[in-house]
Amino acid sequence: MNQPTINTENLPKHLAIIMDGNGRWAKQKGMLRVFGHENGTKAVRETVESCARLGIANLTLYAFSTENWNRPKMEVDTLMKLLVSSLKKELPTLQENNIKLITIGNTSQLPDSARKQLAEVTELTKTNNRMTLTLALSYGSREEIISAVKAISEKVKDNTLAAEDINESTINNHLYTHSLPDVDLVIRTSGEQRISNFLLWQIAYAEFYFTDVLWPDFREKDLHEAIISYQKRERRFGKTSEQIQ
Ligand code: FPP
Repeated sequence: MNQPTINTENLPKHLAIIMDGNGRWAKQKGMLRVFGHENGTKAVRETVESCARLGIANLTLYAFSTENWNRPKMEVDTLMKLLVSSLKKELPTLQENNIKLITIGNTSQLPDSARKQLAEVTELTKTNNRMTLTLALSYGSREEIISAVKAISEKVKDNTLAAEDINESTINNHLYTHSLPDVDLVIRTSGEQRISNFLLWQIAYAEFYFTDVLWPDFREKDLHEAIISYQKRERRFGKTSEQIQ
């Protein structure tokens, strides 16, 4: 039987991935959790390159949640070091592939070394326009919504915005993701089927794809399977099947 192929006319415009299972992958091998994260960076590189090749315009990766700060210090430190070393190492790949890097989240909480490296890569890639790679770092969706509500309230308070004019665009424009389209597809690896405070507003009409593959094992073929599954679905956005035919 022929393998189904990807229709490049019907790609998700915004793919968001919850990269889960690094710890379990390492444990299965009798190694420390940080070994899983190190190998997770290989899956990050392959996924970024595969998405760029396919023509996906926006890829968002959940790299570090607000809750992840509660992990053992050694693990947090390793994740931050991996972030810095990966950014240094991957800058040429981002440039070669014309990929812009941005971040979402409360990045002021990150260590200086990570903030400095992120600022450099963000600046150097800011005019790239083939794909936007967004790293969610110290990110929590509820925190994002709270900060949007605060900013909107300030505008209402100083009369630069009327309360009755608040609409979906107002909220969108005050989220970290203001420059990105809504999420079309969420992939979560490792068999867990939950959202974990990720892009709660932005996934209103997203499709979900859960796979048992642990993140360090996630490869181009797994990405293609997820996209093929997405392309088989009928997205109705609340309408009937007949209306969208
Ligand atoms: C989830 O696995 C993964 C993370 C919390 C971190 C993701 C980080 C990377 C893939 C490496 C660095 C990233 C970049 C962008 C350079 P887990 O630790 O929750 O696994 P478990 O559920 O099996 O314990």
